[in-house]
Amino acid sequence: MKNKLLELKSVSLFYPGPGRARESRNGMIRALDNVSLQIQTSEALGLVGESGCGKTTLGKIVAGLLQPDSGRLLFLGKPHGGGCRREIQMVFQDSQGSLNPRMKIGKLVEEGLIVGKAGKSADRRRIVLETLSSVGLAEDCLNRYSHEFSGGQRQRISLARTLVLQPKLLVLDEPVSSLDVTVQAQLINLLALLKRERKISYLFISHNLAVVRQICERVAVMYMGKIVEIGPASAVFSSPKHFYTAMLLDSQLLPESSQKNKIICATGEPRPIINGHSGCRFYTRCVHAVQYCRHVPPPLQEVGYGHRSACHLQGNAGSRYGESVYSEPSFCYNKNYL
Ligand SMILES: Nc1ncnc2c1ncn2[C@@H]1O[C@H](COP(=O)(O)OP(=O)(O)O)[C@@H](O)[C@H]1O
Ligand SMILES: [Mg+2]
Repeated sequence: MKNKLLELKSVSLFYPGPGRARESRNGMIRALDNVSLQIQTSEALGLVGESGCGKTTLGKIVAGLLQPDSGRLLFLGKPHGGGCRREIQMVFQDSQGSLNPRMKIGKLVEEGLIVGKAGKSADRRRIVLETLSSVGLAEDCLNRYSHEFSGGQRQRISLARTLVLQPKLLVLDEPVSSLDVTVQAQLINLLALLKRERKISYLFISHNLAVVRQICERVAVMYMGKIVEIGPASAVFSSPKHFYTAMLLDSQLLPESSQKNKIICATGEPRPIINGHSGCRFYTRCVHAVQYCRHVPPPLQEVGYGHRSACHLQGNAGSRYGESVYSEPSFCYNKNYL
């Protein structure tokens, strides 16, 4: 049985709104609002959602790069803090920006070991070489600089930098989004292999659902700072219960010609939540929303084994966004909300 590696309990984070000071509580952007989730050992949890919905903020909090304004994080049952800093590492989308251009690859990969005062120079060199080889890079990389490598190779170098520290959890923030499809596939295979061999857990952040489906056992869908659906990837992708998830799935471009006409373009875009907000956040874009959705925030409810969704209608309007006509459930007739 898998153990609980990381647990987030009601984590919230606010950013100062445009032109506001950090101390000002007025006009704050709610980047994360009461987010609770768990990651088990050797599990890959995908985190999907449109740009600006709070994925990177959540990733940075998990990696200890940002402190939440409220809520708790537990790592292996203990408060998440300095002690687990080494065991949780983060890989960013922009590999060029995250690698110091003045350092040679050997030193870049060794840096974490030097900072952590791990072993003698010869031991560190052995670990660096083994790790580079495990991500498919040869010894001749050691004395070269990051700009001499392709995007895919730089992402492997970023990965090696974290792997030398033997992390238990890797936060991968859009790790393959900037790469072309063949390099994406190679990196995805490498990540799957590393996960199997090293029993590492991943928080895999991506807006590419096909990639998430490939590598993650579970998936969490985020919308405007909230988890709106979470569950086994197979269940969420084959039978989404939240209309936002269905909309994301329907917005994917599929190569099969039979599917081409089915794509339903989502209208509108998520806007940051400033100050209070009542009701479902997807209300303004959901074609099935009723007045009840506007006023009452939907709780995350069990809709299947390990599958939860925060929608009052829970997919009753049809399995796909925009399809079939839904019949209003009885609670929608509450006079207060009509
Ligand atoms: N440093 C910051 N200051 C103010 N607002 C921010 C900052 N970083 C992110 N935001 C806002 O917080 C929200 C979530 O951002 P982010 O976590 O980067 O989303 P995602 O990774 O899903 O695209 C967005 O509305 C973004 O504009
Ligand atoms: Mg991001």
